[in-house]
Amino acid sequence: MVSYEDAALLVALLPGDGIGPEVITQARRVLDALAIDGLTFEEALVGGAAYKSTGHPLPPETLDLAKRADAILFGAVGDPDCDALERHLRPEQAILGLRKELSLFANLRPATLFPELADASALRPEVATQIDMIIVRELNGDVYFGEKGMRKTADGKREGYDIMSYNEDEVRRIARVGFETAMARGKKLCSVDKANVLETSQLWRDVVIETHAEYPEVALSHMYVDNCAMQLVRNPGQFDVIVTGNLFGDILSDQASMCAGSIGMLPSASLDSNQKGLYEPIHGSAPDIAGQGKANPLATILSAAMMLRYSLNLPAMADRIDAAVAKALAAGARSPDLGGTMSTSEMGEAVLAALS
Ligand code: IPM
Ligand code: MG
Repeated sequence: MVSYEDAALLVALLPGDGIGPEVITQARRVLDALAIDGLTFEEALVGGAAYKSTGHPLPPETLDLAKRADAILFGAVGDPDCDALERHLRPEQAILGLRKELSLFANLRPATLFPELADASALRPEVATQIDMIIVRELNGDVYFGEKGMRKTADGKREGYDIMSYNEDEVRRIARVGFETAMARGKKLCSVDKANVLETSQLWRDVVIETHAEYPEVALSHMYVDNCAMQLVRNPGQFDVIVTGNLFGDILSDQASMCAGSIGMLPSASLDSNQKGLYEPIHGSAPDIAGQGKANPLATILSAAMMLRYSLNLPAMADRIDAAVAKALAAGARSPDLGGTMSTSEMGEAVLAALS
């Protein structure tokens, strides 16, 4: 976390692939309109775009910029042209590499429904309007980063494998983020695992229970991930903060986004232990609509607001963005994912108009 006194604040802009550049452009316009003293930007290639021009999805210059910056605003990675590459060269490795190299272990994914969007939710409005939660997803471990490979079985069949593991330190540090997040909100934490089947999850549950002793004011519950998927649709209003592992959090946060209106609306923060962070919309690169001006930039604009709040210590500026998004929606701004016809730049303009 930086302080107001710092002369310059450097934001790394990593637009990436697909709709990434389009949505980052709109977030940049909103940040520029705030005219924040000393805020500077440097842009770099990432993902498939970086692979195509440098041969690597996370070139050293990009990693260096990410390390130097006070915060990172990230678009999306993923490009069907790159799907046949060896895994370490695929665009997705760029975001996984940034998360790991910068120790961005805590992923905060708020799912809140703007009341104006109750009709855009996949759920009935009276169920959807209850949604107000944060999913705290672990980002540096789990099956994402375990040993993986392809091998042959004894009888010559192809077999793929990915090892799932968590050690207790990894669980404890994300559990603390979960409890801290709950302390700042409704003091309810639901830890999601699959402890009825997985040893990884049994350790997860044991360590979360131990960590609870540090936060006696928080009401802790545990839920199996399959039940959680069901409860998110049945009664999402029951959740305040969910803490879960990397894989379960990936899946549940996409699901929560549709309950909350559209995946085009949900921002996220990926933080290290000093509140340095990478901010990105939770949607991907959406190659099917890339370059057509159909993408909803609001998730990225809201990610920029999270960046101002969590890493740049500018909460009043963050509030201004959040309020402008709400005002634009109230005035009827709707991209196709929200049932409207406005283009990516028209959505950005609606937010700019609501800022002033
Ligand atoms: C996400 C994305 C990534 C993930 C992909 C692009 C590697 O789905 O941020 O949720 O699985 O973490
Ligand atoms: Mg995902």
